[in-house]
Amino acid sequence: MDKIVVGIDGSETARRALEWAAAEARLRGARLVVVHAWQQPAAALMSPYAPLLADPGSLAETARQTLTDTLKAADLSGLASEPEQLVVQGAAASALIDAAENSLLLVVGSRGRGGVAGLLLGSVSRQVAHESTVPVVIIPPTATASDAQTRERDG
Ligand SMILES: Nc1ncnc2c1ncn2[C@@H]1O[C@H](COP(=O)(O)OP(=O)(O)OP(=O)(O)O)[C@@H](O)[C@H]1O
Ligand SMILES: [Mg+2]
Repeated sequence: MDKIVVGIDGSETARRALEWAAAEARLRGARLVVVHAWQQPAAALMSPYAPLLADPGSLAETARQTLTDTLKAADLSGLASEPEQLVVQGAAASALIDAAENSLLLVVGSRGRGGVAGLLLGSVSRQVAHESTVPVVIIPPTATASDAQTRERDG
C-alpha cells in the first residue's frame, strides 16, 4: 500500500501539516506515517550537568508524548488504516528523508517550534525541500485542506 509521510514537532503548523497529510491519504487510499525525530541538545552534551539535562530515557519519553498529543489533536477520521507512529533519534531532516523513501509524498509545515521569526521556511523544511528524493509538500501556517480533500472526507 502506498504511503504518505508527515513530520511533526509539536507545533500548530505541524499539526496542520498532519491534517493536510491525513486528508491526502484519504483521497489516495494511502497509509499515513507520522514521524517525530528527537536529538540530545548539543549544549547539554558538552555540559558537566549533561546527565541531568539530557537523560536520553526522558527525552525519548517526551518525544513519544509529543507524537501522541499531536495525533490526539488532529482530525484523522476516515483513514484506510491506523496512522503509523515513528519516533526516531537523530536529525529531523535526515530522519524524514529516510522515512519517506518510496513514499508518495513527504509533508512538512513551513515553520515549526523554534526559529527566527520572519523567515519563510525553517531549517528542517528547507533541508527537506532540497534533499528529498520524493515530492515534498510544505504547508504554510494558514493552510486548510483543499476542497477535494474535504469532499472526500465528508462524502
Ligand atoms: N523534530 C522533528 N521531527 C519531525 N518533523 C519535524 C521536526 N522538526 C520540524 N519538523 C517538520 O518541519 C516543519 C518545519 O519545522 P522547522 O524546524 O524547519 O521550522 P522552525 O522550527 O520554525 O525553525 P528551526 O527549527 O530551523 O529553528 C515542521 O512543521 C514539521 O513538519
Ligand atoms: Mg524546528
